[in-house]
Amino acid sequence: MGTVEVLRDGAVLVDGGRIKAVGSYAELRDAHAGAVVEEVRGVLFPGLVDCHTHAVFGSPRLDDHERRALGEDYKTIAARGGGILQSVREVRARSEGELLALTRARVQTLLAHGSTTIEVKSGYGLDPATELKQLRVIRAAAETARAALVPTFLGAHEVSPEFRDRRVDYVRLLCDEMIPTVARERLAVACDVFCEPGVFDVAESRAILAAAQRYGLAPKLHADELEGSGGAELAAALGALSADHLAAISDAGIHALAGSNTVAVLLPATMVFLGRRRQAPARRLVEAGAAVALATDFNPGSSPTVSLPLVMVLGVSQLGLSHAEVVSAVTVNAAAALGLAGDRGQIAPGFRADLMSCGVADWREVAYWMGENLVTAVWTGGSACPLPTAPVSLGLHVET
Ligand code: NIG
Ligand code: FE
Repeated sequence: MGTVEVLRDGAVLVDGGRIKAVGSYAELRDAHAGAVVEEVRGVLFPGLVDCHTHAVFGSPRLDDHERRALGEDYKTIAARGGGILQSVREVRARSEGELLALTRARVQTLLAHGSTTIEVKSGYGLDPATELKQLRVIRAAAETARAALVPTFLGAHEVSPEFRDRRVDYVRLLCDEMIPTVARERLAVACDVFCEPGVFDVAESRAILAAAQRYGLAPKLHADELEGSGGAELAAALGALSADHLAAISDAGIHALAGSNTVAVLLPATMVFLGRRRQAPARRLVEAGAAVALATDFNPGSSPTVSLPLVMVLGVSQLGLSHAEVVSAVTVNAAAALGLAGDRGQIAPGFRADLMSCGVADWREVAYWMGENLVTAVWTGGSACPLPTAPVSLGLHVET
């Protein structure tokens, strides 16, 4: 993870949407005289993989942001009508067309920041109709997007408000109705649960993800984000694709992930945006032998950023990772967190020709300049993507 190979004056030969050869420009030019040449200035990276987003939502949650800054805690904000359930009310009320237009704009902006594969979760519906609506929005957005979208069912993002006093029935609804329908309609490839004290406990999370596995959905877990409850251990035991957040992971959790193929997905922008001092123990995870990935967690409550390069900067300065490690974390390892490590995330023969270039002289600058979008061009499946020329609106503020 700490080693990246850097070629100078390199070239990438692309054929049929895949990388066919990588080598020196002079050699490849001689061997393939008829090939069309696209000159790239700066540094060419594998297209970035954002393996954790909640991009289907309505408005930003500006009041939450300010109340938190003024000292209100999560529970008080939720009690006053903010938090995840505010986004749930809005997503329920908005039409599929509106959500699709918003999602398309966000995906375009994620792509413009270098992300060529983007995982997108549902989880602001919490009832069968709205969860399916969100997943249909992801499918429709994927049909026109130049980035590849990977849909994850997150019906277990919070206990549905209608089931507050009978949470057992909501878990049953998830396992017996929602997961089977999502799988039958092929609306998601993975299933995620917010496993945290006060949300879903370990036993409930295990039951939901076991049901998901029976229906062919790969398990993922929001694990040990705030207080920690053994979510990482559960993810490893289930053979989950990833355990995400992990700011409160235990020593046993680190050990469990290190001994598994489950990727530790760290989300440093979330902890920064929430104003928390504690970050996930990235160095200890790496040194124990866990595979560490980084993602934006793009969502309106805890991480309103579309920039994986910004997250890479935070990976270095907040998590103590090296420049090479953060590059691996948003390419190879992020692809592994989606079960796609053999297909994308590397500039190597056989891989999908997803690439992005940055206008920098040294590759390490991508994880250095904080907040500037340095991406100059993006290619998916070997062809150049049109990028927005003016800033795209990421949300709209409405009364709910
Ligand atoms: O990953 N942790 C749970 N879910 C999101 C927050 C979503 C929200 O606040 O809307 C997260 O941080
Ligand atoms: Fe999340």
